[in-house]
Parts: sequence; structure tokens; C-alpha cells
Amino acid sequence: MTIISKLAIAASLATALTSVSIAQENLSGLVVGFSQIGSESGWRAAETSVTKQQAEALGIDLKFADAQQKQENQIKAIRGFIAQGVDAILVAPVVATGWEDVLSEAKEAEIPIMLLDRGVDAPEDLYLTSVASDQVLEGRVAGEWLVAEVGDADCKVVELQGTVGSTPAINRKQGFEEAIAGHANIVIARSQTGDFTRAKGKEVMEGFIKAENGGADICAVYAHNDDMAVGAIQAIKDAGLKPGTDIKVVSIDGVPDIFAAMAAGEANATVELTPNMAGPAFAALSAYLADGTEPEKFIITESKLYTPADNPQGEYDTRKGLGY
Ligand code: AHR
Repeated sequence: MTIISKLAIAASLATALTSVSIAQENLSGLVVGFSQIGSESGWRAAETSVTKQQAEALGIDLKFADAQQKQENQIKAIRGFIAQGVDAILVAPVVATGWEDVLSEAKEAEIPIMLLDRGVDAPEDLYLTSVASDQVLEGRVAGEWLVAEVGDADCKVVELQGTVGSTPAINRKQGFEEAIAGHANIVIARSQTGDFTRAKGKEVMEGFIKAENGGADICAVYAHNDDMAVGAIQAIKDAGLKPGTDIKVVSIDGVPDIFAAMAAGEANATVELTPNMAGPAFAALSAYLADGTEPEKFIITESKLYTPADNPQGEYDTRKGLGY
């Protein structure tokens, strides 16, 4: 790829991540609260910076609250936003349950709630819209890749789950299991949470390797996000094995570090999750405030598979520096 085409791809990706696609002048001057989960992953860091960039471009005064992975902090932050009388609230909910009371309080105060990247088990009338991927599909895409990759060969999989009780952990597990159902040669031998972090992914993978004949019995690791996969890659190397070859690595997010690993032959597949959840949420809010247009309740983002055939070095180059 020429330097010119590389720059063109970088520019178009940067624009896709940060541009304000339709005129949303009515958002200028609004105060919007953002209750973010924390900074457990590279993807999460990118979502935070894209959201801040989107808000700035639209003239929104964004009040940011980092919950450090704790639902109680998110609930406190949302109550604080309600007390301040903000115009709308963005929430990336750490887990699925336990939101009904605080979302009802926001509804009572007539403050629209927009969910980002994860869902909640609560009545749909408590939020304006939910912008997220189809997480079951993400798991299915990862599983279908493995099914095609191993063919009829026996394959013992270890699974690194995301945060317990979060919708991506629940749904990505379900989708992967659906994809491998009917393929008796592929079994999930071990499955444990790595909490979506690199450090925990490495630690849990070390345990899997010990329990599975020094890793010799493991055919593939399926990680619910790239950060845990990167941690697992380190654990595989520390055990004297070759990630990507001795143990296949498939995960979800599409962060620069997984593309670097793929370019080095140490990761095999990832399913991209866009960090631009705020763009569609702000567009929905703009239309709603303009004339009461009810947005789609679920705005679904794309889930695209990347493998070493997709120029991982180029993907790394275009993504690094975009807030990941
Ligand atoms: O909810 C989205 C998930 O949360 C991302 O896949 C993961 O990296 C993040 O922590």
C-alpha cells in the first residue's frame, strides 16, 4: 500500500470516528452527563475519547464520570447528573441488572437516557435509545471463524469471558456456543472471567495453560475482548509456546494492539467493534429534541471479521493514535 493510500484510509477512519454526520446545531450549549464504566480496555479508552471529541464538535458541555468498574459509582453519578438538571445522560452500563430505580428517576425528571455499548435488563421505556453492537452476532462470527479454521480436527478451546453479568460477556458466550454447536470436534474445555482486562486475561490464561498439560492440549483461546487476548498471548509466550500457531487466538474489538499481534503472526482473528457509539446517540437525541422523533430503540453497529488476510499492519497504522 502506498503512503498516500495509507494516509487516505487513516483520514477516512478518523473522520468516521469523530465527524458529526448531520446538522445537529440544536445540541450546541446542552449539558450532557456521561457515566462511563472505567478504562478497563483499549477499546473503552477509544470510546471515551471519541465521545469527548463528538461532544466538543457539537458544542455540548460533556460532564464525564469514570465509575472505576463499579455500578454503585455509576448510579451515584447518574443521580448527580439528575440533581444538576443536565439535558441528557449517556450511560455505558457495567452490568445488565439493577438499573430500574435510577433510570426511573431520570425519566421522572424528564432527562433522556442513551445507553452506549452494553444493554440493561429494564423496561425499554426507561431509555431513549441503546447504541450497541449485536453481541450475540460477534460471538457467532468468532465461533464461525474457528469452525472454518479447524475443519474436522479436534479442538479444545479455552474461553476468557468479559465482566460477569455484563451483556457482552453473556451474549458473546452465547453466540460462540451457537456457532460451535453441532461441531462435536470443538469443545470449550475451560471458561473463566478475565474481566475485560489485559492483566486478568494473562493471569487466567496462565492457569488454563497449567491445567491443560502446559498448554499442549489447548487448540484455541476465545477472548471476549482483544485486551484479554493480548494478555493471553503473553502467557502463551511465557509458557514457551507460539501464539497464533500452537494456540490460535480469536477475540473481539479490533484495537491496534491486536492488529500488531496479528501482523506478527501471534493472533488469528478479531471482530471489530466501533468505538463511535456517541455519534448515533447524539444524532438520535438531536432529532428527538427537534420534533419529538422517537429513534430506533436499538441502534446496531457493524461487526466485521478481520484476519491476517486483511492487512493487519495497515489496520494498526490507521488506528493507532485515534484514541485507543
Ligand atoms: O462493552 C464493550 C466491551 O467493553 C468491549 O468489547 C470491551 O473491550 C470493553 O471493555
